[in-house]
Amino acid sequence: MPRQQLVLIGSSAGWMLPSEWLTQFEEVHAWDIDPLAAPLFRWRHGRTLAQHGTRLHLNTGDGLSALDVCMQDLPEAFFWFDNVLGQMRFTTPNLTSMERQLRQMHQRMRRVAWGSVHDRMSGRCDAHDTTPLPMQSIAPWPMETPQAQNWLHQMGAISPWLDHLTEHVLPPGTSTQNTAWAFKPNYMHWLEMGWCPKVL
Ligand SMILES: C[S@@+](CC[C@H](N)C(=O)[O-])C[C@H]1O[C@@H](n2cnc3c(N)ncnc32)[C@H](O)[C@@H]1O
Repeated sequence: MPRQQLVLIGSSAGWMLPSEWLTQFEEVHAWDIDPLAAPLFRWRHGRTLAQHGTRLHLNTGDGLSALDVCMQDLPEAFFWFDNVLGQMRFTTPNLTSMERQLRQMHQRMRRVAWGSVHDRMSGRCDAHDTTPLPMQSIAPWPMETPQAQNWLHQMGAISPWLDHLTEHVLPPGTSTQNTAWAFKPNYMHWLEMGWCPKVL
């Protein structure tokens, strides 16, 4: 994966990213729609990035609308959707259209190297002492398969769970890592992550 430029979509303050990981890039271009994200990102990572000579560009706005321009401007960058695509279903009443947009994401991103961590499903679960170990799979991983049902069972999922419509975000055949996140007591998120090189 490219290591010169990173474009982060849905960066927030970069809570989930260690500063040391960000310093492997020469430039970080972060996008978040929340005006508080930029100052908080700088507060959390600014000093370490400056010490390592990583240039930081913070953008406040709709990073999804800006994607095509960003890909034109930074065709050699690595684009990372940082736990944002799984929330897209909450931004529109038209779920069919949103699901279609999410399914088309890997076509839209063909020109660049990119990846995503996103919610696959979430919901109530039995009380757990431990969260299950991460699980590897190949995209797409339908939740109806016995393996995925077993994974949900390990999380103690109590039906029904919310589908975040991200099953087809990553290109078919992408290696993925699935992680259980204890979001709050008796409530889990199933997160999927994966990345792929540019195709064109
Ligand atoms: C779950 S949070 C991501 C957390 C973040 N990656 C971190 O490590 O702290 C989702 C973020 O996506 C942002 N977001 C939602 N829609 C967006 C959009 N269209 N463009 C840019 N950011 C967006 C939200 O403001 C929020 O900060």
